[in-house]
Amino acid sequence: MKVALCGLGEIGQIHLRAIRESDEAELVAVCELDAALAARSVGDEVPVFRDVAEMIESAGPDVVDICLPHHLHVPIAVTALRAGCDVLLEKPLAVDLAGCDEILRVADETGREVGVSHNQVHFAPHRRLRELIDAGELGQIRAIYERLWMGGKYGGWREDSSQVGGGLLMDAGVHRVYMAEYLGGPIRTVTAVMDNPRSEDAFVLTFEFESGALGVIQGGYHGPEGVFDDRIEIQASDGMAEVLGCEAFFEGDLEGDLRLRVRLDGSWSDDPVTGQWDESVIASVQAVLSDLAAGREPEVGLVEGRSAVAVVEAAYRSAETGKTIRMSDLDERNSG
Ligand SMILES: NC(=O)c1ccc[n+]([C@@H]2O[C@H](COP(=O)([O-])OP(=O)(O)OC[C@H]3O[C@@H](n4cnc5c(N)ncnc54)[C@H](O)[C@@H]3O)[C@@H](O)[C@H]2O)c1
Repeated sequence: MKVALCGLGEIGQIHLRAIRESDEAELVAVCELDAALAARSVGDEVPVFRDVAEMIESAGPDVVDICLPHHLHVPIAVTALRAGCDVLLEKPLAVDLAGCDEILRVADETGREVGVSHNQVHFAPHRRLRELIDAGELGQIRAIYERLWMGGKYGGWREDSSQVGGGLLMDAGVHRVYMAEYLGGPIRTVTAVMDNPRSEDAFVLTFEFESGALGVIQGGYHGPEGVFDDRIEIQASDGMAEVLGCEAFFEGDLEGDLRLRVRLDGSWSDDPVTGQWDESVIASVQAVLSDLAAGREPEVGLVEGRSAVAVVEAAYRSAETGKTIRMSDLDERNSG
């Protein structure tokens, strides 16, 4: 399967590794505006383009992998789909629900598939936790608490909320949102407080899952420089669990390999499962590529990608109005 990669920045570098190491994919071209970065990254391995349409026309990829700033996700995905390619997109699917729906409509019209890289779904301790939940080991989930404590803001396009589609919640916060749904199932209502909705540096989301469980996602840029704490805690009827973060180790903030602690039958134990942030990205990219190569709908695709953006939108509307937002009302209002 021929894959063309757009964007060779921070995450594009990991996608590049994932494609090179995949048995099913062959890198045929890249699209990157920074010529020096492109030269350092691929040398003369594949042709480098500055325009995605030209790249598709010349290299004829089966899949276009998009690792670009958020505001470019919709136009580049639509260009690729209309040219007959399947698409792999970094999170978030789009900067708003209208953008998600445009990608959905064009994918439907063209019959092409879209996979979304929600890499934390492929972080081994998170998958193990989901296995424990599915096997009923923890009993009924009553509450999920997720944090995103970061120290220091990212620069570049992330300083422009129109390119991000919001602030911290729409960027790193999206990982918290899709993990809440991956572990707890669909969300029914969202209530949020934030410092500056759609350009936020700090937020608290409280939500109710359709199962009746409750959730909290709390995040902010206000930790000491260098901190990246993204742990998840679960309280359930028969047990509790804590994952010490996917990106915390990547930022070097925590030592050691063990990530998942579980309390069952009255005592805590460390689960031997380990994993690294970059491994989760590689697994996520390769999972989508495998699904596309086999002609399967990707495990994480348009439904999951749209749902995460919908929860973020509900949080913005709640923070703006002071009201609790029902996900069902949000969908009706958006389609109406
Ligand atoms: N899964 C994760 O953990 C994770 C981590 C970082 C970023 N991301 C996501 O990856 C995407 C990219 O983020 P990043 O941090 O790699 O950004 P980045 O700024 O590091 O890289 C973006 C690259 O795209 C290039 N670019 C910009 N416009 C272009 C265009 N029109 N055509 C070709 N190239 C263009 C830039 O030159 C840059 O090299 C975003 O969606 C972001 O949310 C995900």
